[in-house]
Amino acid sequence: MAADSLTVTDNRTGQTYDLPVENGTVRAIDLRQIKVDPDEFGMMAYDPAFTNTAACRSAVTYIDGAAGVLEHRGYPIEQLCERSSFLEVAYLLIFGELPTQPQYERWVFDITHHTFVHEDLKEFFKGFRYNAHPMGMLLAGVGALSTFYPDAKKVEDEEERYMAAVRLIAKMPTLAAFSYRHNRGLPYVYADNDLNFAGNFLSMMFKKTEVKYEPDERMARALDVLFILHADHEQNCSTSAVRSVGSSDVDPYSAVAAGVAALYGPLHGGANEAVLRMLRRIESVDNIPDFLERVKNREEKLMGFGHRVYKNYDPRARIIQHHMDEVFEATEYNPLVEIARELEKRALDDEFFTERKLYPNVDYYSGIIYESLEIPTDMFTVIFAIPRTAGWVAQWMEMKDDPEQKIARPRQIYTGERERDYVRVEDRDGPEKIVGPPAKRPKRPRRGA
Ligand code: ACO
Repeated sequence: MAADSLTVTDNRTGQTYDLPVENGTVRAIDLRQIKVDPDEFGMMAYDPAFTNTAACRSAVTYIDGAAGVLEHRGYPIEQLCERSSFLEVAYLLIFGELPTQPQYERWVFDITHHTFVHEDLKEFFKGFRYNAHPMGMLLAGVGALSTFYPDAKKVEDEEERYMAAVRLIAKMPTLAAFSYRHNRGLPYVYADNDLNFAGNFLSMMFKKTEVKYEPDERMARALDVLFILHADHEQNCSTSAVRSVGSSDVDPYSAVAAGVAALYGPLHGGANEAVLRMLRRIESVDNIPDFLERVKNREEKLMGFGHRVYKNYDPRARIIQHHMDEVFEATEYNPLVEIARELEKRALDDEFFTERKLYPNVDYYSGIIYESLEIPTDMFTVIFAIPRTAGWVAQWMEMKDDPEQKIARPRQIYTGERERDYVRVEDRDGPEKIVGPPAKRPKRPRRGA
C-alpha cells in the first residue's frame, strides 16, 4: 500500500481500492473504477457548487483563509498595495513575474495606447435605454468587443493573446465610464494619455467642460489600491465562469463577458452596496446595539462580515481602512464611516461573531470609499470588473496552457423520468394549472393608431 494513498472499501462489494493522494487531493476520475457491476459507469463525486472540488492547478493567487493571507504569485497583498501599482500587479498576475523597467514601460505604453474603442461601439452604447444598468451595458460592451477583433479567436496564437490581454485591460475602464455617462446623458470622454490608469478613469468619468481634468492624486492612488485589491481572488464564481466558457476555445472577449455576467449577481459583486443600505438603515451609532440584537436573532445579516474562505480578518479590509482617511482628506467626510467603525468594534467584541469567525470582508469599507469618490452605487460592480479583468485574463491564459485541461463538462445525477412513450396532445390528462404569469389581454389599439 503506497504511503500517499487513500484506501477505500466499497461496502456494497467488500472490495478495497487504493487511490493515490497528491497535494491532499484524490483524483475524482480514480473513483470511476469503483463499480458493483462491471458494465456500470462507475462512481462519481457529487459536489454541487464545487465547495470541495479543485478544478485546476493554479500558480496565480494563494489564499490561506484561516490565517487571513492573500498573495499574488507569492507577493503579499500588503506589499503590493503599499509599493506597486495596478498595472504592475496586472503584469505580475498575467506573466508570473514583476516586470523589469523596460518591460513595465512597454506594458504601460501598450495599455495606454489601447484605451480607445471603435466609434461604432459608441453608437452601440447609444442604443441602450437612458436608465439601463451600467453592468448590463458593460456586459454587452465586452461581448461586442469580440466582433471588432475576430483574430482573437486564434487562442493559441501568442501575439493575439497578448493583444487581447492589453485591449481588455485598457478598454474596460473606457466601457465602464461610457456606461456611467450614458446614464447621466453626458457626452462620452476619451482617454487622456498623460494620466495614469486610475487618474484616466476618473477623468473619463467626471470630466466636464474643463480643457484638462486634473485628478486629485490622493483619490487616484486610493482607487489604484482598490484596483490592486480586486485584481484576482483565485477560483471564485466569475473566474470559474471565465475558465469554463474559455475552455470551449471561444475568444477571450466572450470568455471575459461570462465573467462580467457572473459578477453582476448580487451574491458575488453586490455586497458593498448592501453594506451602504444597512448603514443607512442603522442611521446613528445609538441604534447599533438594537441592530446587533436583530442580527443575533437572525432578523438581519451583518453585511460586509463573514467570508466563505477567510475565517479571519480579510487582509483586503485592513488595507482599505488605511486608505480611508486619505480619501476623506480629499473629499467630503462620509458620516456613515462613524457608524461602520463603531459597528465593527462592537461586533468584534461580541462572542456571537468571534465564535463564528466573522470578521469584516473587503466589501465592508469599499462602498464607503466609492461613495466618497462620488461613484453611484450601481457602478460599484462595474468598478470591481475593471481590475478583475487582469485576474480573468491571467487565469484564462493559465487554463489555455494547462495540458490537463479540456472543455469543462460536469456530470449529473439524473433524477427524472425514463422511457416514456409520447402521447398526442388531445389524449393527455394532467394538472389544469397553466404555467407562466396570468395572460394579459391584448391591448386595444389607441384611437387613431
Ligand atoms: N451576519 C450574521 N451572521 C452571519 C454572517 C453575517 N454576515 N455570515 C455568517 N453568519 C453566520 C451564519 O448564520 C452561520 O451561523 P450558524 O452556524 O449559527 O448557523 C455562521 O455564521 C456560518 O456562516 P455560513 O453561512 O456557513 O458561512 P458561509 O461561508 O457559507 O458564508 C458569506 C459566507 C456568504 C460571505 C456570509 O458570511 C455572508 O452572507 N456575509 C454577508 C454578505 C457579504 O458580506 N458578502 C461579501 C463576501 S466578500 C465578496 O464576495 C467579494
